[in-house]
Amino acid sequence: MQKYYYIYTYGCQMNVHESEKIAGMLEDRGYIRTDEVEKADIIVFNTCCIRESAEQKIMGNIGAVKPIKKVKKDLIVAVCGCMSQQADMASILRKKFPFIDIVFGANNVEFFGEYLDEFLKQKKFCNKVIQDKNYMESATKMHFVRDNSLYAYVNIMYGCNNFCTYCIVPYVRGREISRAPKTIYREVKNLIDMGYKVITLLGQNVNSYGRDGSTGGVTFPKLLDNIANLQGDFELRFMTSHPKDLSDELIEVMAKNPKISKTLHLPVQAGSNKILKAMNRSYDRESYLNLIRKIKEAMPDITLSTDIIVGFPGETEEDYLLTEQLVKEVQYHNAFIFMYSRRRGTIADKLENQVPISIKRERIHRLLAIEHEISTKLFEKMIGSTQRVLIDGENNLFYLAKAQCGKVVKIAKSTVTKLNIGKFIDCEITDYKNGNLIGRTK
Ligand code: 5AD
Ligand code: SF4
Repeated sequence: MQKYYYIYTYGCQMNVHESEKIAGMLEDRGYIRTDEVEKADIIVFNTCCIRESAEQKIMGNIGAVKPIKKVKKDLIVAVCGCMSQQADMASILRKKFPFIDIVFGANNVEFFGEYLDEFLKQKKFCNKVIQDKNYMESATKMHFVRDNSLYAYVNIMYGCNNFCTYCIVPYVRGREISRAPKTIYREVKNLIDMGYKVITLLGQNVNSYGRDGSTGGVTFPKLLDNIANLQGDFELRFMTSHPKDLSDELIEVMAKNPKISKTLHLPVQAGSNKILKAMNRSYDRESYLNLIRKIKEAMPDITLSTDIIVGFPGETEEDYLLTEQLVKEVQYHNAFIFMYSRRRGTIADKLENQVPISIKRERIHRLLAIEHEISTKLFEKMIGSTQRVLIDGENNLFYLAKAQCGKVVKIAKSTVTKLNIGKFIDCEITDYKNGNLIGRTK
């Protein structure tokens, strides 16, 4: 009888990509994907713990499986990812939800298939959370079931060494490990041959690629340059960059290579030097702004995005206003703004001067409104410009495309004869409406 799987994925692109590995292992074992959770024979929760809100949502969704499992006794429930990687979490989860069958962490996703085989044989709870990560090259031989046939993620490194004081990632994803350049080239070449058009290189801090000494001296700019020089019609993106490690060489490589998208996600987190220091970000406002100036000089068409935390412990109104000013000065096309969330085991969690939730809420609303106004103006400024876009879908009225910055561009079918999905085209932007760019072919 046909078996079905359903995967809940929470959090960042890293998790999205890891779910593609999990799907591969399930399909290798004969399961097929379903979009109806009730129909599934196995449900996997690939979790995130970056903020408390993520954890609460996940707990709620796991809880909702209880009635399904009551009527479907053979249903297998697996929980993995960053949340389960935290100390004691496997037993906390199992206590709260005794119907969970398999728990494993972000460190050993590649072994899920084996855990599932073991569970099917022994039919008893599998706690497979391990502390050491030892999977790098085995990962490259894996079968991914990619979510999309045009856009592909490629991990270039895992882990983070930065220990920003608010962040739990270094605790759950461990130290930085870089993948060998030649296996990355091989994977990207394969993807290009298979027809993927946008390749996004992934790492928590891509700019420190190779710092662990495992890449034979290949640094991130070199890796990016080599990939951009591969044959084929594709675009190259990467995330995330830590401002402290973004070199002049990287700016040069980006500026000279037409295949590298002129878009950069550069989390600033805060605009006040006092807060940046308390966050252990290793740069100050002035050096960040100087970096932005250099980037804009080298690439005047660059679109910038960022992450910002409001309400970090000790953030005063003056500190917050410095973040507002910085946002106005940089002019981001997009900003992901978060309220600081206390994370167990991090340094910031132990600070005494925590900011009340009401102030955090008020600051996030103010900053979101400011950013909305800025980004609207920036996208309106694109009207009249020509953008290279990838046609990636269609509906009754429009061809849908993505600009390099990731923004949706809609092209009315009434204005063109036929556009092929998967092709890059030059498109003139004619309007900006409801958060989407409107374009027409040149
Ligand atoms: N609270 C709020 N936001 C956080 N981030 C990381 N840790 C926390 C936290 N404890 C944000 C940062 C990071 C993004 C991925 O999530 O802005 O860049
Ligand atoms: Fe977290 Fe900082 Fe590492 Fe990003 S760089 S994952 S914010 S510790």
